[in-house]
Amino acid sequence: MFNLKRTHYGGQLRLSDVGTEVILNGWVAKRRDHGGLVFIDLRDRSGIAQVVFNPEHDQDSHVLAHQLRSEFVVAVKGTVETRPKGTVNPELPTGEIEVLVSEMEILNPAKTPPFPLEEKITTNEDLRLQYRYLDLRRPGLKENILARHKAYQAIRNYLAKEGLLEIETPMLIASTPEGARDFLVPSRLLPGSFYALPQSPQLFKQILMVAGMEGYFQIVKCFRDEDLRADRQPEFTQIDIEASFVDEEDIYRLIEGLLAEVFKALLNIDISLPFPRLTYQESMDRFGVDRPDTRFGLELFDAAGLLGGAGFKVFDQIIEQGGQVKGICIPGGAAFSRKDIDDLTTYVAIYGAKGLAYFKVTEEGLESPIAKFFSQEKKDELIKLAEAKAGDIIFFVADKPSVVAPALANLRLNLAERLGLIPGDKFELLWVTDFPLLEYDEEEKRWVASHHPFTSPKETDYHLLETDPGKIKARAYDIVLNGVEIGGGSIRIHRQDIQEKAFSVLGITLEEARRKFGFLLEAFEYGAPPHGGIALGLDRLLAVLLGCESIRDVIAFPKTQSGGCPLTGAPFEVEEKQLRELHLKIRA
Ligand code: AMO
Ligand code: AMP
Repeated sequence: MFNLKRTHYGGQLRLSDVGTEVILNGWVAKRRDHGGLVFIDLRDRSGIAQVVFNPEHDQDSHVLAHQLRSEFVVAVKGTVETRPKGTVNPELPTGEIEVLVSEMEILNPAKTPPFPLEEKITTNEDLRLQYRYLDLRRPGLKENILARHKAYQAIRNYLAKEGLLEIETPMLIASTPEGARDFLVPSRLLPGSFYALPQSPQLFKQILMVAGMEGYFQIVKCFRDEDLRADRQPEFTQIDIEASFVDEEDIYRLIEGLLAEVFKALLNIDISLPFPRLTYQESMDRFGVDRPDTRFGLELFDAAGLLGGAGFKVFDQIIEQGGQVKGICIPGGAAFSRKDIDDLTTYVAIYGAKGLAYFKVTEEGLESPIAKFFSQEKKDELIKLAEAKAGDIIFFVADKPSVVAPALANLRLNLAERLGLIPGDKFELLWVTDFPLLEYDEEEKRWVASHHPFTSPKETDYHLLETDPGKIKARAYDIVLNGVEIGGGSIRIHRQDIQEKAFSVLGITLEEARRKFGFLLEAFEYGAPPHGGIALGLDRLLAVLLGCESIRDVIAFPKTQSGGCPLTGAPFEVEEKQLRELHLKIRA
């Protein structure tokens, strides 16, 4: 037990508290000895307060203060005072005051941390994850966790006010059709059977609509066994939403309102509503991706019409084979050296591009190794088409669309970043709509669902299900923030006949469908309302909002890139006995 129980949070003390007697509890962030006085920065959840031990004021605590080291846990009692002139610290919210100590208890000593806890220290991330409890004491990470808490509250309040019900769905389930690999959990009671952890609550939320709940939401963990990246974790959190008797416009309005609340709560920013919309096709044409970063220009343009048929073989052949020639104009790029351009050519080769043609724009006109193929008239027109000016460079990639798009989209991002063309303080939200319902999987030689197999085709495209599946547009939408896909959803199929047709196009036999999703198909026979929904990736949303490089920085206990948890050591080998109980054997 301890006697000095907190009356105030140190980080919240201000000039108006001067004269108040306070008890603070917290950690020693720093100790300094100065001409007989001992100062400590006392850290608690709210921030830092300076605490002073003066032997003339209290002998005992001053003596004890000499034992203090970083991260000791202490309780101090004292009076809030104005700092002497010249010692005010304008960087700290509590920089104008200090607490003169009259009594102290050391509640617990601490070992020296394996890395310093001051901010802006770059420690190896594995070590930080192993000592996550220390890392979380640091201001940056701690603030992210506090912001995440605020976001939960804002989201719950808003969605409840909108009439949605918060309902939990199970974690031990049959497989969900989101298209990633499942994490499996072996059943002890049913030898050889496995549960899957949900990739999302997709099927349950649709069943809740059949159950007459009309509106559902959940802040929920989802599990996907995928290759990890900075914006991907094996377990991550969705704000999952589904509603009945709605169309796309209802979902857009609901989510725009939700994001407005979150931006207000976390950043005190009023975002402008409604969000702009781009069709998938327009997004691909102008940016080469379905999640464009619209904070800056550098849009792609189609140059096949202008530059084709002029005798430059590379372009002519690709156009003949049905390929594309697309360009991008980079301001100031005429200054790129031969080596710069070679490096960029190597860079686009990552995405399959076989070359990177270019024109430098000078006062005298266009300069390029391939300039000789094009007439003056074409070159003049190109400058207009590219909206180029002297000092710019225009790059081209010619190939099939599945190479041109990622090559130029990534070149656009790469150069915008390097040339400092991305405004850091801007937030650009937009809807991407009219996705194709299906994608052709070249390897498996079959159609696969772009989103998931319950996504409704546009009603006007129903007839294409049998004739031209590739042309069918889906009632699906994504929401994009600064080039990051922060959410996606769709209006669902609620008619059983359409669902069966959709399965058949996907090469899922009725039998297979009945085995996998029979419960859903059966539910649809008992009065399924029209319904639709969306899921926002909460980690991604917060990471962009808070300016984090990785979603790991907004998650209290994230996994590493290889899916491990350095804090607990998971995943780990289990004992033979556990395996036996689960009827499992490990293959060498
Ligand atoms: P989707 O698969 O698009 O849709 O997922 C929704 C959002 O979740 C986020 N997300 C991830 N975040 C971190 N790590 C991951 N591994 C990860 N995977 C996805 C993304 C994504 O936009 N059931 C449907 C939604 C619906 O149709 O209502 C679904 O899960 O931000
Ligand atoms: P080459 O005729 O191969 O010497 O190429 C002449 C120029 O065209 C070089 O700058 C190449 O980088 C460029 N180039 C070659 N193939 C392509 C392509 N598929 N797309 C764009 N540029 C290309």
